[in-house]
Amino acid sequence: MKIAGTGSALPTKQVTNDDLSKFLDTSDEWIFPRTGIKSRHVISDENLEDLAVEAVNKALEMASVAACDIDFFICSNVVNEYITPGLGCVIASKAGLACPSIDINCGCPGFVYGMDIIDKYFRSGTVKNVLLVAAEEPSRMTAWTDRSTCVLFGDGAAAAVFTEGGNYLASKLSARPDPDPLYQYHLMEPTPYVTKEEYSLPLQMKGREVFKFAITACLDDIKTVLDKAGKKVEDIDYFLIHQANQRIVDSIRGHLGVEEAKFPTNIIDHGNSSSASCLILLDECNRKGMFKRGDLLLFSGFGAGLLSGSALLEW
Ligand code: ACO
Repeated sequence: MKIAGTGSALPTKQVTNDDLSKFLDTSDEWIFPRTGIKSRHVISDENLEDLAVEAVNKALEMASVAACDIDFFICSNVVNEYITPGLGCVIASKAGLACPSIDINCGCPGFVYGMDIIDKYFRSGTVKNVLLVAAEEPSRMTAWTDRSTCVLFGDGAAAAVFTEGGNYLASKLSARPDPDPLYQYHLMEPTPYVTKEEYSLPLQMKGREVFKFAITACLDDIKTVLDKAGKKVEDIDYFLIHQANQRIVDSIRGHLGVEEAKFPTNIIDHGNSSSASCLILLDECNRKGMFKRGDLLLFSGFGAGLLSGSALLEW
């Protein structure tokens, strides 16, 4: 497969570190040096599905593919307004798609998991045009009284259209199953039968554990993908890494010994938008005309689960 079009859409409301410091005991002086974040987009009047549809329309237009010609669709999402149907069905109904869709909840590396599933479909010879959407609203998950989590995240959606081609060169999906470092429970209304205590909880995160996992897992996955493809670090033109935290990205770049220009980032004014972050970055770089045919792009994501994954794609 190959990527034929990309699109993204962001909420209009931007919340700066200074805005946060008006109602939280925090400051730009604390947040920026530790995370690289100055501001993030947060859903206010919009719906997540409408942002996703905007991203889909942009990606379809760039790919010159009609909505009715998409024959398979994967939606990567952690949380949205609906419990059922899957967000993919809601997006499909508004975007005029008529194909089957699968929702995946793989947290931040969801875009890599989605790409990898799509690759398998292409290899089975059953699809011609496939859509991947990552739409995320982490602002719905964090407690806005908890300075240790809410300052890190931003909302957004992005899409990519895949068509036939031999450009997906290698991938590696990994797991170190452990929900404890990063999780959130559903709201459970009391029932006559539930005796155990169940309750709603905002996102819980062990920041330092996640930090270490992110770097180790990402470096392992990248090494495996490079080995599988018979490539070296210096062969890669761009590393598109999950935009969790500038310090995580910088540490990975430092371990690999790669110059800054090959590690584009947008975390400064987006924050961490979970699985949407890397696809938003891809679309922004693409629309700036950064990539030329034949460039090697190495994607990598890591997060809740604990799941991670990397993939190598030729532009
Ligand atoms: N403003 C001011 N002070 C704060 C804030 C804040 N926003 N958040 C925490 N603090 C305080 C803490 O209360 C603590 O105070 P104390 O020493 O008086 O108890 C102090 O700062 C240090 O807190 P730590 O949590 O130990 O700070 P740390 O240096 O570990 O930095 C951070 C926290 C930035 C979250 C870091 O651990 C990190 O980047 N982790 C990665 C987590 C991540 O990226 N998660 C995203 C989701 S998962 C993913 O996408 C991979």
